[in-house]
Amino acid sequence: MSRLVIISNRVAVPKARGAAGAQGGLAGALNAALKKSGGLWFGWSGETSENPSSEPHIGTYDGVTMATIDLSPHDLDEYYNGYANSTLWPLFHYRIDLARFERETGRGYERVNERFASSLAPLLEPDDVVWAHDYHLIPLGEDLRRKGFTNRMGFFLHTPWPATRLLVSLPYHERLVKTMLAYDLLGFQCDEWLTSFLHYCEYELGADVDEESGRIELDGLTTIARAYPIGIDYQHFKELGETGEARQTAQRVLSSTRHRTAMIGVDRLDYSKGLPERLDGIGRFFDRFPERVQDLVYIQIAPPSREDVESYKRIRAELEQKAGQINGARSRIDLVPIRYVNQGHTQGQLVGAYRACKIGLVTPLRDGMNLVAKEYIACQDAEDPGVLILSRFAGAAQQLSEALLVNPHSPDDIAEKIRQALDMPLAERKARWKSMRNCVRDENIQRWTENFTGDLDKLVR
Ligand code: F6P
Repeated sequence: MSRLVIISNRVAVPKARGAAGAQGGLAGALNAALKKSGGLWFGWSGETSENPSSEPHIGTYDGVTMATIDLSPHDLDEYYNGYANSTLWPLFHYRIDLARFERETGRGYERVNERFASSLAPLLEPDDVVWAHDYHLIPLGEDLRRKGFTNRMGFFLHTPWPATRLLVSLPYHERLVKTMLAYDLLGFQCDEWLTSFLHYCEYELGADVDEESGRIELDGLTTIARAYPIGIDYQHFKELGETGEARQTAQRVLSSTRHRTAMIGVDRLDYSKGLPERLDGIGRFFDRFPERVQDLVYIQIAPPSREDVESYKRIRAELEQKAGQINGARSRIDLVPIRYVNQGHTQGQLVGAYRACKIGLVTPLRDGMNLVAKEYIACQDAEDPGVLILSRFAGAAQQLSEALLVNPHSPDDIAEKIRQALDMPLAERKARWKSMRNCVRDENIQRWTENFTGDLDKLVR
């Protein structure tokens, strides 16, 4: 069997694993994917140093070999804070108003991808199957091909893929997208992003596109693009629910909320997650139903993220202000409606908190998938499950259609869905939850890995 080599911007080396909340779903998902097959995981160490060595630091943890390199502060600024998170991230999340287009950061992005390829090259064996992840590493496959690698290579995009009319606002967009054709297989989270990608290839690149099979041909290169909705490690979440850490956290939430229904949101502090809009919706709920302030407590866990990027500093300040305003207006001497928590939490603690909260509120303005929605479902008690309120603009909404789907831009809709969730009869809660639980259990991370790597294996090079 071929060895699987996963490449992502960050590698979840064990010392960093505790604060799962801040890492987003990707790290946990890849860790679960590799735990089964063994293999190599390559990427940035999360550290910066002046003149970093191109030779990776290698360690093996639970059968997974992790190879990491440091980045220089300059590289980090141009590649990670710059092009990846100030250009591609906002653009891919339909926030062109926040996107910055600068030539230097684009060059830095290409330079760091080239560095990744040069450091990884000596570790690759002829039979390895290479799988690169996310918007940080779009050109990496082409860099490896230029070095003579003929291995099977796949790429998975964890974010949305924007509509063509938006993407064309990116200077040199053709150059970036054409590099993706160096991969043999391209994966997207759902049909919506896949369709946008195929549309772009056909109408902007002039490629030959077969929508049925996802086959794209251009300048002698052929690649296949398909949707592979990512899942969670369902079994792992079930087992975590049995731990003392999860039970104690659930108990702490329950005893501190007593007769009120606890509602939870867990998000990296990112403008794509729709957090200010969510607080507006909660504020609207209390405006419409002032007496229900004693029925509901909202727990927002929002570990800070990408703190050197200006738009992230602004969103943090905005949230602090909004949470403060609502609490100022609605608190009573013995109750506070919103608990706004900036710390990351371990997975065990999150599992306990999900379980104790009877409403999960997941309202991104745009999201590739959103694994919090799936984690929330996995952690519910079958006899008394909670209600998931889910943005229709998250990739997860295509699978979790039994959630209360909401327009995250509408405070009225959020307020109404909260009311509906609070008043939902047990039989309806059970029926909705069961169908979503089946999907989360069956379409899990193991299935996702098998589907993608299985398809990659089948392709003839
Ligand atoms: O796709 C989501 C993602 O960008 C992942 O690539 C990343 O692991 C996660 O969010 C967290 O982001 P960051 O590594 O910038 O903290």
